[in-house]
Amino acid sequence: MTATEPASAPTSSGQGLVVLSDVNKWYGELNVLKDIDLTVRKGEVIVVIGPSGAGKSTLCRAINRLETIDRGTITLDGQPLPQEGKALAALRAEVGMVFQSFNLFAHKTILENVTLGPIKVRKKGKAEAETRAKELLDRVGVGHQAAKYPAQLSGGQQQRVAIARALAMDPKVMLFDEPTSALDPEMIKEVLDVMVDLAKQGMTMIVVTHEMGFARTAADRVVFMADGQIVEENSPEEFFTNPQTDRAKDFLSKILKH
Ligand SMILES: Nc1ncnc2c1ncn2[C@@H]1O[C@H](COP(=O)(O)OP(=O)(O)O)[C@@H](O)[C@H]1O
Ligand SMILES: [Mg+2]
Repeated sequence: MTATEPASAPTSSGQGLVVLSDVNKWYGELNVLKDIDLTVRKGEVIVVIGPSGAGKSTLCRAINRLETIDRGTITLDGQPLPQEGKALAALRAEVGMVFQSFNLFAHKTILENVTLGPIKVRKKGKAEAETRAKELLDRVGVGHQAAKYPAQLSGGQQQRVAIARALAMDPKVMLFDEPTSALDPEMIKEVLDVMVDLAKQGMTMIVVTHEMGFARTAADRVVFMADGQIVEENSPEEFFTNPQTDRAKDFLSKILKH
């Protein structure tokens, strides 16, 4: 290795876009996040997988500070997550989040749903925000639906709008929490295709999903969580074909049966 080559493994928080160290969270007696250490580098795509109740959603919610943590640190681009106020609003804009339920505003058009954040939070002008929103809606394949209301779109289309809405804030990282699990089977692929494109374009992504096809196509790493802990971390190929722990083997045998 030459002196100019970067080290292969991140050794300091300076090298990770999102760095969690010793993150712990309790709900009462329940330790829902246990000693979580995770470094996500710029452009990396991480798939988080694991049984229900493992703490996957809590992890996502902690990263964009929808939940507080009780111990440890989370940094974004080297900065600790802000506690409150304007700095917190700014952080939320840097971390795009797509949930299982699309959470679009029912009484606003698709275009308005996508321009709202950029105008209110990023202080963009209306014309500029609309131009960018139309580009993003085209990119996710729903440009022709811009004037409609959410209820007039299918679930798959609404989820693609939710992705466009998050992208409109120019986030540094995108979090997806089971983005396809509320969708009818025929709509899952159209949403995953958009996510695969995003990954190919270099977006840093943390994706909670059990879609193995997506993990194999797009993920750099699979993180397996159970009982609030990261139990296993590996390449998708290794994780799915050669899981190391009994927890992972047991989990995979269950999801593969379906
Ligand atoms: N607001 C809350 N209050 C108390 N317990 C919670 C709350 N949210 C989640 N939990 C518990 O924390 C654990 C982890 O939940 P969650 O992060 O939603 O897991 P996952 O997304 O992996 O299914 C579960 O046992 C869940 O019941
Ligand atoms: Mg969850």
